[in-house]
Amino acid sequence: MTETLTVLGLESSCDDTAAAVVREISGVPEVLSSVVWGQESLHADFGGVVPEIAARAHAERLDICVEQALQQADITLADVDAIAVTSGPGLIGGVLSGVMCAKGLSVGSGKRLIGVNHLAGHALTPRMTDAVAYPYLMLLVSGGHCQFLAVHSEDKFTRLGGTIDDAPGEAFDKTAKLLGLGYPGGPLVESEAQQGDSLRFKLPRPLLDRPGQDMSFSGLKTALRRARDTLVAEKGGLTLQDRADLCASFQLAVADTLAEKTRRACLVFQDMTNTDGPVLAVAGGVAANSLIRERLQDVAQNNGFEFLAPPLKYCTDNAAMIAWVGLERFKSGHQDDLTLSARPRWPLDRDAAPMLGSGKKGAKA
Ligand code: KG4
Ligand code: ZN
Repeated sequence: MTETLTVLGLESSCDDTAAAVVREISGVPEVLSSVVWGQESLHADFGGVVPEIAARAHAERLDICVEQALQQADITLADVDAIAVTSGPGLIGGVLSGVMCAKGLSVGSGKRLIGVNHLAGHALTPRMTDAVAYPYLMLLVSGGHCQFLAVHSEDKFTRLGGTIDDAPGEAFDKTAKLLGLGYPGGPLVESEAQQGDSLRFKLPRPLLDRPGQDMSFSGLKTALRRARDTLVAEKGGLTLQDRADLCASFQLAVADTLAEKTRRACLVFQDMTNTDGPVLAVAGGVAANSLIRERLQDVAQNNGFEFLAPPLKYCTDNAAMIAWVGLERFKSGHQDDLTLSARPRWPLDRDAAPMLGSGKKGAKA
C-alpha cells in the first residue's frame, strides 16, 4: 500500500519568510515547493537583522508565501495532512507571526498543527535530501549558531560542543562591517579573501589549546579590529590588498578552528555511537564557504566519515526543512494544539548545560 503524507511548512524565525510543501510517498520525500522571501535588503543599511523590521515584514509576507507555496505545489490546503511551523528558537516577533498564521490555517482547515524547532529543521535536512540514517554527526554553522550535534532521532540530540560566544556567520558579518563591505558579510569576505594572503596576519585560534569541542569567535573579531586599526594608524587607511589580506587571514582562522574542533567531534561521536559508515553533515549559511567546506571534507575523510552538505538552498533558512521535521513528527504521532507558544530559546539537547553568552543577539539560527 502506498502511504502518502503531505505537510505545509512555515518559517519566520529570523530574516527569511518562507513556506514550503513536502510530500512523502512510500518513504520517499519530495519538495513540491519551497518559497523563500529574503529580507536582506530591508536590513542591509543596518549591517544586521533589526527584529522589529523583520517581524513586521514576516506578518506582511507569510500569507503570500503560503499561497505561492500551495500554488507551486499545485495543491490546496485540503490536500495537506498537517501544518508545521517554526515555534522557536528565534526572534520572538517573527516566530509569533508564524505561529499565529499556522494556528489560523489549522483552525480554518481542521488540519493538524505541529510546532517545530528551527534547529531541528537544519539538523534533519540531510534526511530529507539524502535519506541519511540515524545516528549521524551534524555541524550547524550559521549566523546565529555553531554547534556539533549527535542526531539520534527526530526528537533526540546530544550536543557535543559549540560556540561560547559569537557564531562564525556573525563574525563574518562583523568583519565585513569593520572593513566597509556590505551585508550579509560571509560571501563578500570570501570573495575578498580570494585575492588575499591568508598568512599575513597572525590572528588567534581561540580555545584550540584547550580540550573539548567548544569554540569562541569573539576574540577573533577583536584581533581583526586591532590589526585594522594598526594599519590605519600606520598608513592612514587600508589599501585594497590590506583588506583582502585581512579577509583571507580571518577566513583561515575560522576554517582552522572549525576543522580541528570537527576532528575532535568526529572522535567523540564515534566513541559514543560506534556507528558503521558514520556521516558528518553540515548545515547553515557558513557551510557555503568553499574553504571551510573543503577543510571539513578533509577532516571527514581522514576520520572515516562520509561528508554530506545538502544543496545550499536547503542549508540556509527555508521552510522545506520545517515541513520535513513536521512530517517526521507526524509519523511519530506528535500533535500540537492552540496552546502552542513561540519560544525565543529552545535548546535541542535538553540535558546540555546552557551555553555561556549564546544567543546574545537573539537565537538566530
Ligand atoms: O543559515 P543562514 O542563512 O541564516 C542564519 O544565520 O539563520 O546563515 C547566514 C550566515 C550569515 O552570517 C552569512 O554571512 C553567512 O551565513 N554566510 C557565509 C557565507 N555565505 C553566508 N559565511 C562565510 N562564507 C560564505 N560564503
Ligand atoms: Zn537557520
